Amino acid sequence: MEEKLKELEAKVKIAIAAAKTLSELQEVHNLYFSRKGELAGLMNELAKLSSAERPKMGQAINSAKVALLTEFEQKQSELKRAEMESQLEEEWVDITAPGVDGHRGHIHPLSQVQQEVEEIFSSMGFEIKDGPEVESEYFNFEGLNIPASHPARDMQDTFFVDENPDKDFGRLVLRTHTSPVQVRTMQAEGAPLRIIVPGRVFRYEATDASHDSTFYQVEGLLVDEDISLAHLKGVMEEFLTRLFQKEVHVRFRPGYFPFVEPGLELDFGCLLCEQKGCKTCKFTGWIEFMGAGMVHPFVLKAGGINPEKYQGWAFGFGLTRLVMMRHRIPDIRLNFGGDVRFLNQF
Ligand code: PHE
Repeated sequence: MEEKLKELEAKVKIAIAAAKTLSELQEVHNLYFSRKGELAGLMNELAKLSSAERPKMGQAINSAKVALLTEFEQKQSELKRAEMESQLEEEWVDITAPGVDGHRGHIHPLSQVQQEVEEIFSSMGFEIKDGPEVESEYFNFEGLNIPASHPARDMQDTFFVDENPDKDFGRLVLRTHTSPVQVRTMQAEGAPLRIIVPGRVFRYEATDASHDSTFYQVEGLLVDEDISLAHLKGVMEEFLTRLFQKEVHVRFRPGYFPFVEPGLELDFGCLLCEQKGCKTCKFTGWIEFMGAGMVHPFVLKAGGINPEKYQGWAFGFGLTRLVMMRHRIPDIRLNFGGDVRFLNQF
């Protein structure tokens, strides 16, 4: 039996030395040290010995086991360290290396200007409203004093979405201006009112550098008692001066829109030439900016407001055109062409 123990000791030492990974070493443990392992097997054989030999042999097996376990544990911690080191090697990161530069987008130039416009008008007490882009003929035309037979319809006749007229509201149409939100808001909120309506509009238009079938407008509407065009002039001068951060002058010219009376066009003094005359203002010193006027009593009535008690003015300007002036964009089609080489300039 002593012989057997020697052989076993030698076998275990070789096996421990040969283990290259922790799981191989675990197998060595199962094979020799576990309860069903070979060392335990040898212990069981003690029963066959005489009671004189048994304690001696028992001790010998035990001390051999203790010595072998020490070797086993040494090997185990060696392998653990080695595995940790190779893991560190694999997962190493250079925390001083420069980061990956993510592409950050930015707000579209039109939205940038829209936000500025909204901020300036909000600070003057105007609420921001919107309305549907698919609009009824009633709100787009009739409610604004543009009956079907009216020649002014020709200016804006446009894309119809369905041909089955509703008996009260007519057909559905892609709105040709933001003005329908005037009547909608008057009906919903009554007087007094102070709103602006930035939004997308559509026209049946042959596309060229200055015309597109889709563009943006900003509508303005103020309804209260004792309101005159002087208020409009003051509000627009203040608005444009803050927007361009430069003192801006405005002037009125007569203009025609069926939903205002009197109707007018508002120009502002050319900022490029200080009104001396240049190519941009066609040597007039003035830039055409928007349509406006006193809200027609018919429109107030359509909005459920008593024209004997309240008056107001309305205006509508092209937000797309404003952005083009601001950034000197030569072709309207660039705005929504989706070309990032264009967009990244802003
Ligand atoms: N809705 C008009 C247009 O699109 C502009 C306008 C608005 C004119 C309000 C007068 C008053 O041309």
